[in-house]
Formats: sequence, C-alpha cells, structure tokens
Amino acid sequence: MTEMENKAVEYAVQHGVATLTMQSAPVNALSRALRVGLIGGIDDALRDDSVNTIVITSSLPIFSGGADISEFSGGDLSPILPEVLDKIENASKPVLAVLPGPAFGGGLEVALACHHRITFADNKVGLPEVNLGILPGAGGTQRLPRLADAQTSLEMIVTGKPTSVVKLPGVFDKISDKPEHLLEDTKNYLQSLTPENAIKRTSDIALTMSDETQAVFDAVTAQTKKATRGFFAPLKCIEAVRGAYTLSFEDGLKNEGKLFMECMNTPQARAQQHFFFAERAAGHVSDFDKNTPERSIEKVAIIGAGTMGGGIAMNFANAGIPVTMLELKEEALEKGLALIRKNYENSAKKGKLTQEQVESRMALLSGTTSYDDLADVDLVIEAVFEKMEVKKTVFSTLDKVCKPGAILASNTSTLDIDEIATATSRPEDVIGLHFFSPANVMKLLEVVKAEKTSAEVIKTCMKMAKRIKKVAVLVGVCFGFVGNRMIEPYGREANRLLLEGATPEQVDRVLTEFGMPMGPFTMGDMAGLDIGYYVRQSRQEYISHDPAYGAVADRLVEKGRNGLKTGRGTYNYEPGSRVPIPDPEVLEIAKQEAERLGVEQRSDISDEEILVRVMYSLINEGAAILEEGIAAKSSDIDVIYVYGYGFPVYRGGPMQYADEVGLGTILEKLTTYRDQLGEYGKMWLEPSDLLVKLAQDGGTFKSYQAK
Ligand code: 3HC
Ligand code: NAI
Repeated sequence: MTEMENKAVEYAVQHGVATLTMQSAPVNALSRALRVGLIGGIDDALRDDSVNTIVITSSLPIFSGGADISEFSGGDLSPILPEVLDKIENASKPVLAVLPGPAFGGGLEVALACHHRITFADNKVGLPEVNLGILPGAGGTQRLPRLADAQTSLEMIVTGKPTSVVKLPGVFDKISDKPEHLLEDTKNYLQSLTPENAIKRTSDIALTMSDETQAVFDAVTAQTKKATRGFFAPLKCIEAVRGAYTLSFEDGLKNEGKLFMECMNTPQARAQQHFFFAERAAGHVSDFDKNTPERSIEKVAIIGAGTMGGGIAMNFANAGIPVTMLELKEEALEKGLALIRKNYENSAKKGKLTQEQVESRMALLSGTTSYDDLADVDLVIEAVFEKMEVKKTVFSTLDKVCKPGAILASNTSTLDIDEIATATSRPEDVIGLHFFSPANVMKLLEVVKAEKTSAEVIKTCMKMAKRIKKVAVLVGVCFGFVGNRMIEPYGREANRLLLEGATPEQVDRVLTEFGMPMGPFTMGDMAGLDIGYYVRQSRQEYISHDPAYGAVADRLVEKGRNGLKTGRGTYNYEPGSRVPIPDPEVLEIAKQEAERLGVEQRSDISDEEILVRVMYSLINEGAAILEEGIAAKSSDIDVIYVYGYGFPVYRGGPMQYADEVGLGTILEKLTTYRDQLGEYGKMWLEPSDLLVKLAQDGGTFKSYQAK
C-alpha cells in the first residue's frame, strides 16, 4: 500500500469511510509526495470492499495552499495534478472534500473535483494563480463555472482574491455554522447520501453561453483590460473560463491546459513566482535565529506628528497598539492628531471603517509635549526634521528618559543611523525604521540595522512589522539605504536626458510603458521638486564634479516651479488636477542650460536609450548595493522596489528583470552608452564590479550570495 510509506497523506478506514488526511506542513502544497499519496489512497479505497465512501481532508488549519510552486521550475512531476483529479472525479465511490480551513489554487481544484464539498461559514477559498502569472491549470476554470455563476467565477479567477464560502452556495453542499460542528455535520451528511445523489460529477453539468453570460464576459473583459494593464495572464484566464461555456468539458480542459502552458512559459510567470518567494524570503534573515529573544511591544511613542509621524502612528493604532505622539508645541500636536482623525473619517465615509472603529483607533492615540510621558514605552520612532543635529538632540533626550530595553528607532530617509546612535549610551537599541509615504498605506518598511544594533532588536522589529501589516526588508546603512539610493541614478539619468534634448513626456512614456505607475518627471512633480533640490544642495561632495547635475531641475525650482503643489513643475497642472500638461518653457530652460553647460542637445534620443540609461543605471546601483552587503540578497531589492516604488510585479523587481534580460546584455548596453557619452559616461555610467563579474561568468543576481 503506497500510502503507508507516504507521510504526506494519512490513510485510515473506519465504519466504511476511508479518510485521506493531507498533512504536509505548512500549507499542504500539492507536491509530488502529496499527489502520489492522494492517488494511492483513492486506489486503495476503491480496492477495499469494506470502504463505501472516501473523505479527503487535512490535519492542518488549511485544506491546501495549492500546487507546489517550487516544483514549477522542473523535476519529476508525475503524476500531475489533473491526473489526480481525474482519478478523484471518476471514482466509483463517493468522494467528499471536508475543508477545515482555506483552499487555494490546486487545493480548491481538488475540492471541486470531489463529488461533495463541506466546510464552515467563516472559511475562505480562492484561485490565486493569476498572481503567479498563470491560470488555474487543474480544471478550476472548467469546474468552478459549473458550480458558481459566471460573474463570481470570473471575478475569483481573474482577480485571484479569496472569497467567503458563504458567497458560494452552489459550490458547497453543506456549510457548518462553526468549525467545531464540521465533524458532526460531515457524519450526518454522509448518512443522508442516497444511491441517486452519492456520486455527483461536476463535469457532468452542461453549460451554454447565453446572451446574459456573454454580457458578463464583455463587461469583465473591458474592466480587466483597464485594471491589469501590462499583465498577460488575466485575459488568458477569461479565455479559459469562456471555454467552459463554449466547449465540451474535455475540450475545455485541453484549452485550459494549453493556455496554462502559454502563461507558464512567460517571463511574467517567472517574475511573479520569483516575487512570491522573494516576499517570503525577505523575512528569512541570518542576523537572528529562533533562539534570539524577542522584546514585547505594547506601547509606542512617535516623535514628530508631521506627514510621516501621523501615518506611522496610524499603523500602530490600526493594530490595536497604543501610541503617544510627541511634538514641541501643542498646536503642531493638535494639527497632527486632527489630520489623523480626518484620514480615519475619510475611510469611514468610503465605508472602509465604522464610526466605532474610528473612535476606538483615535482612543489609542494620545499627544504630549513632555518627554517624561515616554518613560514606559517599548518602542520610540523618531520622525522629526531631516537634520542630523535635531535627530541627535532627540536621541540623547530619549536615552535619558526611556526605560532600559526600549527600542529607539529613526525614520530618517538618508541620515547615518550609526551617527544617530552615538547620541545615546545604548547604540545596540538603536535602529532605522524607514517607512514610505503615505506611511499608513505603503506596505514597505526598510528595517535599517546599524553597526551596533543587537540581534534582539532586529528580530523584534522584523516581527513587529508583520503585526502592523508591513513587509519588512532588512538593509544596511548607506545614504538613502536601498530604495532611495537606487532612485538617485534613475532620476539623475532622466534629468540628464532632458538636458540632452529628450522631452519629459518621452521619458515618462518609456517608463510607464515599461510598467512603472508613473514616469520620473510626474513622480518628481508629485513629491515636490524642492525636495530633490535640497538633497542636491546637501550632497555637494557627491555631485560637485558634475556641474550639469540636476541643472534643469534646479532652474525650475529657482523659478518657483516646485511641482504639483505650486501648479507648475516639470509639467503644468490645472487647479485641482493631477494631469500633467507639457510646457514649452521647460524645454526652453533645458536648451538654455545645455548651451550654458556646453552639453550637445540631440534629436535622436531613442526609447531604448532612455530605458537603458534610466533603468539599467538603477539596476547597476542595485548591483553595487548587493556587493556591499547593504542588501543581503537580490530578491530583497526586488521586494523594496515592488512595494516601495510600484515597480511592476510582472517584472519581478529590478534585479529579477535584469536576470531575465541577461546580465551580459545589461552590461553591454550600459557600456555602449557609457562609451558614447564620453566624459559624462565615465562619470556616471561605469558598471559596478559585481555586474561586470556576474556578466562575465554568465551568472545572475539571484544566484549571487553576498560574502
Ligand atoms: N507552494 C509552495 N510553497 C508554498 C505554497 C505553495 N503553493 N504556499 C505557501 N508556501 C510556503 C511559503 O513559501 C512559506 O515558506 P517559508 O516558510 O519557507 O517562507 C510557507 O509555505 C508558509 O507560507 P506563508 O508564509 O505565505 O504562510 P501564510 O500562512 O501567511 O499564508 C497561504 C498561507 C495563504 C496559503 C499563502 O502561502 C499563499 O497564498 N500561498 C500561495 C497560494 C497560491 O498561490 N496557490 C496557487 C498555487 S498555483 C496552483 O495551484 C496551480 C494549479 O492551478 C495547477
Ligand atoms: P514633516 O515636516 O511633515 O514633520 C516633521 C514634524 O516633526 C513636524 O510636525 C515638526 O513640528 C516635528 N518636529 C520637528 N522637530 C522636532 C523635535 N525636536 N521634537 C518633536 N517634534 C519635532 O516631515 P516628514 O515628511 O514627516 O519627515 C519626517 C522624517 O521622516 C524625516 O526624517 C524624513 O526624512 C523622513 N521621511 C519622510 C518621508 C516623506 O516622504 N515625507 C518618507 C520617509 C521618511
């Protein structure tokens, strides 16, 4: 009996019922071992005359997380999942799926192939394959529409979002009110089976494409084209589901299989599957282990109730953690708290929060102007002005008032955490927690470890991030850390191209066509051009060898063109509108600056030149960051870019994109422009040592292990 050796599926027979219990932690991913176990279990149950019914269930809090994504890169895959499901559906004894927890992807497809499905009311199921750049490939696109309506099936498959089982009455034969009642309800359900209804094959249900269903398809297609610009899989999902209405079950399955393979063989699928693991790998860091103690975070303080302080405070209040906000003056405090209330009220107006939730979150927030009120907090996050002297004063005061063991964090976007730590007598408790704006919305958190930050503090902050629903990435200290350091060459090249004769619209178009949510000039206008201006002023040691650095942007700011907030930046804006309108004056300024600085303006700047200079420069900086160990692995950089900068997830992040293009190509194109651009190229487009080395060795960023 194969399943006796199979640890992934436990097989037991009692009172004529053979129960196949999946027990492959953590999520019952349908690996080969599990598939072999299921097939073997079904075969055994069919052979055993004492068995009249088969139950498939799970010993874990989840039914199954779907196909084993790590197997997608190859290996011995037989028996494949569709074979397992074929065996289940065509079994001559009734097969029930009992779901003690969620079922996703192939996990739900297993349940759909069973003859009956039982679960409890609070449970959720989903077909999230689209998030991996693929579509349900084990009959999900054919079986779900046979049990749920077209609208629901399309929504689930095209968006990949989990759906409450109570919204799927046609899919579940019995929904227990509570998980505790699942066992009893299953027994009763089994007893209610009659020879007529014992075997219900989903594939026997016939579907046709009515005018009404066609209208649903048209509406979902139009909406999907708009909502998923650049993604390959969503429209393929629709095509596969259409087959359920226009083809026989067998042909629908074949069509699904063909479309599944079409999706699987794309760079997008590789990128999205890479990203699935990248996001999880960000939490695997070597700086601490399971024995490292963790501190408890029950009370938090935020210094500075400005743009960032307010947003950061909301994250903690949302997680039920009390926050004390400290400002120098009462007015600033009141203003900060009023803005938070306004944000919550807006969410309530949109129906995202109830008024009670608004009040309970506000009740967790208190304000003070006295450091004495911070004596018992577990974590302080400083978000005051970006000035080293101000930060040091704050930290030296915190050092005096905070209890031993309190974590002292800075939200600085650029300043040296090691230097900030010197203002305290406890550098081991000092860390950077770099939130992104708007801090209550953006999922990314760069956790910046300084030289002396203790493992305990790092571990506590990484775990705390999960509690406040952030994706934390651990990085090292350098100017701008990972994200902002890489955005510098990106912005620099965009600005230089403007000086050389490209238009802002062309540059922005190339980057949005690549998949960025907006181009660098629109982004600059949104953030405020004055911010970059002050950064350049304060970084003269880095840029003074290039008199043309940021020249056009500097002139724009000097003319009061600070971006969206002043109605004029690199573009013009109508009052109340965010739509950028090109302004010939900007091109004139660029022309004058080019003449003044002796830069030749060209009319032959191609889209490829823009992409290479802007995007490959960003990647080149990523390579330097990796080599310096500021990021521990290339996938961490990818997570930072997708969650912090809207880098298209279908490209997997900048480093995955570079690996996909091939580092040889990246190097060759970068050096071509370096050589073409003479002195400028030598100054700024020199490939990093790691890029050169990996390109020469035929390596990838992904396979590079920092020493
Ligand atoms: N395959 C392989 N590994 C998986 C996996 C899967 N389907 N699902 C989760 N894992 C791994 C994770 O990588 C993680 O590993 P780690 O501990 O080494 O980092 C571990 O299981 C736990 O995962 P999470 O940290 O994500 O655990 P959560 O409890 O937060 O979430 C979950 C559980 C909701 C199931 C989430 O893991 C998830 O969304 N998984 C993917 C679901 C999915 O996309 N399924 C479709 C797969 S494709 C498919 O089925 C194709 C079919 O149609 C043919
Ligand atoms: P802000 O100017 O909106 O807020 C700063 C607040 O700190 C003000 O309310 C000010 O009154 C208060 N403050 C100043 N000195 C203080 C002191 N000594 N004690 C107590 N309060 C004091 O600035 P913002 O944008 O919130 O930035 C704060 C920090 O966050 C900076 O270090 C900045 O670099 C960083 N940051 C900013 C991001 C952004 O997009 N705005 C993104 C990520 C980090």
